[in-house]
Amino acid sequence: MTEKFDCLEDFENLAKTILEKARFKWIAGGSDDMVTLTDNKKAFDRYRFRPRLLQDVSKLDTSTTLLGNTIASPIAMSPTAFHRLADYNEGEKATAKASCSANTLMVLSSFSNTRIEDVKKAAPDGLYWMQVQLFKDKRITENVVRRADAAGFKALVLTADQPVFGKNRRDSAYKNISLKDHPDLLRSINLEYAGLEKYQIDDAQTWEDIKWLKTITKLPIVVKGITTGADAKIAVQYGADAILVSNHGGRQLEFLPATIDALSEVVAAVEGSGVEVYMDGGVRRGTDVLKALARGARAVFIGRPIFWGLACNGEEGVTQVLDILKEEFRRSMCLIGCSRLSDITPSMVVHESYYY
Ligand code: FNR
Repeated sequence: MTEKFDCLEDFENLAKTILEKARFKWIAGGSDDMVTLTDNKKAFDRYRFRPRLLQDVSKLDTSTTLLGNTIASPIAMSPTAFHRLADYNEGEKATAKASCSANTLMVLSSFSNTRIEDVKKAAPDGLYWMQVQLFKDKRITENVVRRADAAGFKALVLTADQPVFGKNRRDSAYKNISLKDHPDLLRSINLEYAGLEKYQIDDAQTWEDIKWLKTITKLPIVVKGITTGADAKIAVQYGADAILVSNHGGRQLEFLPATIDALSEVVAAVEGSGVEVYMDGGVRRGTDVLKALARGARAVFIGRPIFWGLACNGEEGVTQVLDILKEEFRRSMCLIGCSRLSDITPSMVVHESYYY
């Protein structure tokens, strides 16, 4: 691949020309009129920086820890289903290898095309967390949890914003994805358990299910999908170890706030609890990462750009996506006058209305 990529948008544009139309649409899509999806990105543009100049940024360190695990920069990968849609041969294995070589964290989706154990085998030194979903038949969830634990995954990410699937434009795209050459393209191989080919999400799920999870595993639990301070406080009460502020990339409840806007309320609500707060949704540039950290996130996670990297250049494409975002973030840190992540403070970013 001789393509020159300057930014993540370049990957998106090329992926659009490479992928079957229905596949690209399903990955790109969001709920209803895609207001939340669009706002996730646009909201970042509403914040302005207030740098500190002349700070000696010659020795930069972007590394951090997430639940005690060290990663090279505060940029990790959100769980997303079916990576073989973008790289049929390698799928999640390619993502895992790229994640490992970038020294970051991959959250594997329960709806992945690749077995938990095979992901680990593809890049044994990688850092993995497992996304879990509460199913009507709890044995399916339990099986995923136990296998991830046995394979050395370091935490569970409980998706809490999906008691039912959002009504998405992607649904028609999903139905149009051609399975002619690859009948297993949309196969959730990790959910096939005890002869159960079909899973049903448990629409009766409650916070009490976190207690149940704690009876079957000692792994730390990250609650994904929180956008309010009130829910963040409940998550802490129920023993969550971390919160991933997320609106599911604008694919679940329409008219949720952009995550960069919702972030501060969640951070304030859990202050002093020791619970880590991360965010995902619309992160596409190094400055987005910097804004999220200044507003209190410990790290950001990315979803769709992984598919674009896979589609454009497989494992190498994901590596390039991660490299570009990290390089942009490093540069932004230098320009704002920070050498370490702990130098980034809330006073360094303001809403644009500050200047009006
Ligand atoms: C997702 N997301 C998601 N979330 C989750 O908890 N389990 C899953 O299986 C999936 N699958 C999935 C598939 C696709 C195609 C997309 C685009 C998203 C949501 C994902 O984890 C994350 O919250 C968003 O993708 C983040 O937003 P960006 O970075 O895509 O803007």
